[in-house]
Amino acid sequence: MARIILLLAILLQAWIIRCTPANYTIDDTTGDARAQNLPFYLPQGSWSNNCTECDMQPEAQNASNGTYTQTRDNVNISNPAYINIDFEGTAIYLFFILGNELPSGSITTNITIRLDRQEYTFSRNSTQGTGFFEYDQLVFAKDTLPNTNHTLSIDVYSVLAFDRAVYT
Ligand SMILES: *[C@@H]1O[C@H](CO)[C@@H](O)[C@H](O)[C@H]1NC(C)=O
Ligand SMILES: *[C@@H]1O[C@H](CO)[C@@H](O)[C@H](O)[C@H]1NC(C)=O
Ligand SMILES: *[C@@H]1O[C@H](CO)[C@@H](O)[C@H](O)[C@H]1NC(C)=O
Ligand SMILES: *[C@@H]1O[C@H](CO)[C@@H](O)[C@H](O)[C@H]1NC(C)=O
Ligand SMILES: *[C@@H]1O[C@H](CO)[C@@H](O)[C@H](O)[C@H]1NC(C)=O
Ligand SMILES: *[C@@H]1O[C@H](CO)[C@@H](O)[C@H](O)[C@H]1NC(C)=O
Ligand SMILES: *[C@@H]1O[C@H](CO)[C@@H](O)[C@H](O)[C@H]1NC(C)=O
Ligand SMILES: *[C@@H]1O[C@H](CO)[C@@H](O)[C@H](O)[C@H]1NC(C)=O
Repeated sequence: MARIILLLAILLQAWIIRCTPANYTIDDTTGDARAQNLPFYLPQGSWSNNCTECDMQPEAQNASNGTYTQTRDNVNISNPAYINIDFEGTAIYLFFILGNELPSGSITTNITIRLDRQEYTFSRNSTQGTGFFEYDQLVFAKDTLPNTNHTLSIDVYSVLAFDRAVYT
């Protein structure tokens, strides 16, 4: 009897561990260590992770894991740059570095996120007086997804510095 109870307890514990959701990071540069996936940045010439001539130059050391990936300044609205991120899970969170005051003036962030045939827009104007950059800003969260494979894409109509995604 004691053995059966012990066995049941072990099974219950395994079941709880299996069902406890965990968060995994998709870094802008090193990607998803668990699924061995990297984000895709297209077109290639529109992206950089060490842009020295860009208007927006956040400190890499302040970014998550020391890296970010940003659009160059040549934004083409009729043919926007985009990021594709694949993940398997039930939730996705996107973290960017947002810019405020730049040498060229104020700055607008404007993106469209496409996920499971739905579109979401995120747009924001500078928040004056809050410093040049705001690091690790959550700009998108969706936590009611079916537990399957998803592709999220981000169309970029402005300057943008992508730092990381987290999925559950
Ligand atoms: C995963 O991370 C997001 C964003 O930080 C957080 O809101 C959520 O509670 C986390 N979920 C788990 C299961 O830790
Ligand atoms: C952080 O970057 C290092 C390489 O610089 C890499 O080996 C590691 O997997 C990265 N960690 C995460 C959580 O992405
Ligand atoms: C900057 O990044 C590009 C590709 O993203 C690479 O070819 C180049 O060597 C890098 N330059 C420096 C100074 O790290
Ligand atoms: C950026 O990192 C430096 C050195 O680690 C730190 O002193 C500074 O407060 C950080 N800035 C922000 C905005 O997090
Ligand atoms: C912007 O994209 C459109 C459509 O692909 C293209 O025709 C145009 O030449 C591009 N403009 C620049 C400045 O690259
Ligand atoms: C964002 O970009 C789209 C596509 O160019 C445009 O239609 C929309 O008006 C822009 N939104 C803002 C707030 O600038
Ligand atoms: C940003 O400012 C422009 C011009 O003042 C305005 O049209 C737009 O609605 C603002 N966007 C947001 C997201 O506040
Ligand atoms: C998700 O994709 C991975 C890699 O392609 C695959 O191994 C896995 O079975 C897929 N999961 C589902 C639920 O389709």
